[in-house]
Amino acid sequence: MPSLLDRYGRPLRNLRLSVTDRCNLRCQYCMPEEEYTWLPKGNVLTFEEIQRLVAVFASLGVDKVRVTGGEPLLRQDLPALVRMIANVPGISELAMTTNGVLLREHAVALRQAGMQRVTVSLDTLDAQTFRMLSRRDDLPRTLDGLAAAREAGFTDLKLDTVVIAGLNDHEVPSLLDYARSIGAELRFIEYMDVGGATQWRMDRVVSRATMKERLQAHFGPIRALPRTDSAPAERFQLSCGTTFGIIASVTQPFCASCDRARLTADGMWFLCLYAVKGTDLRELLRNDASDAEIAGAIAAAWRARGDRGAEERARTPDRQALAPQSSLRQNPHLEMHTRGG
Ligand code: GTP
Ligand code: 5AD
Ligand code: SF4
Repeated sequence: MPSLLDRYGRPLRNLRLSVTDRCNLRCQYCMPEEEYTWLPKGNVLTFEEIQRLVAVFASLGVDKVRVTGGEPLLRQDLPALVRMIANVPGISELAMTTNGVLLREHAVALRQAGMQRVTVSLDTLDAQTFRMLSRRDDLPRTLDGLAAAREAGFTDLKLDTVVIAGLNDHEVPSLLDYARSIGAELRFIEYMDVGGATQWRMDRVVSRATMKERLQAHFGPIRALPRTDSAPAERFQLSCGTTFGIIASVTQPFCASCDRARLTADGMWFLCLYAVKGTDLRELLRNDASDAEIAGAIAAAWRARGDRGAEERARTPDRQALAPQSSLRQNPHLEMHTRGG
């Protein structure tokens, strides 16, 4: 495999593929506003365009694709796209991040199409908190979606929990108990000041250190497990053997080992979660560029990459939400739900 490295020697291996900017929830940490600017439908890449780009990325070293959104299951016929991506030579890992609401309907078809792993966002087990957090009443469907995923054979399920002070931080032990009960690995995520998180404040972040203290007080000693890859989660184990992760993007950024980039549903390619500018791959695709030309553009951008967005944010004095709502309305590509979490 050609080794394509950026300015800090980081390889490009992990492509996060947003297949739609739409979502059926309105989580406070991602979509807290009433109104959004959506990507124009005509700009959204077709399945053939996506497959072609994934093949070009694979030729440059990408071996892991994570399908995201918005909510990826809102994309019509998603299993057909999954099958097309699973067939791209070189893609050895294919996973999806979903809120789980529509999993009951789609889990079997996804599995049959070649989806290997599913990560479900689950921030609370309390119906009222779910409603407050997501402005929808869908806790039962989410939990049923998780059951459906297991029944369909997704055995190494992961759960993602964004922890927000005063909102769901008291549920940290019960969420871990729940994950253990369904055989899933839970990752607690520090609340990040990404685009879309317009209500972010440092005092609402629950740090990795605090989460560990609370878990230790409840479950007894926890020990750190050795790191095995460039994944953002640090893994820990309770004395009963249960493992879990913490993604400490705010207090312990992991930019030094970041091998990921993201493609929006309309073909903009962003190198960093916090990047303001991306590369317009849709324009290349729709102006008849050859695969070699597209690969050349991607390789040039990656070689020039010096992003360390989360580390830079950590050095920002008086850190506040990254972007005001007005700038997100003008440039929806800054939104987390557009570029895929
Ligand atoms: P697996 O290890 O394969 O499960 O992948 P993953 O850990 O990337 O999974 P997931 O998509 O569930 O990512 C978990 C969360 O980590 C995201 O939802 C974000 O909150 C955060 N995250 C993902 N990518 C980045 C990134 O590039 N930078 C930072 N700072 N945070 C990220
Ligand atoms: N902070 C941390 N994670 C976030 N996500 C979205 N917004 C944020 C944020 N402000 C991630 C979470 C969620 C997924 C859909 O996107 O992991 O589960
Ligand atoms: Fe990678 Fe940017 Fe996230 Fe740092 S902030 S880990 S460089 S995407």
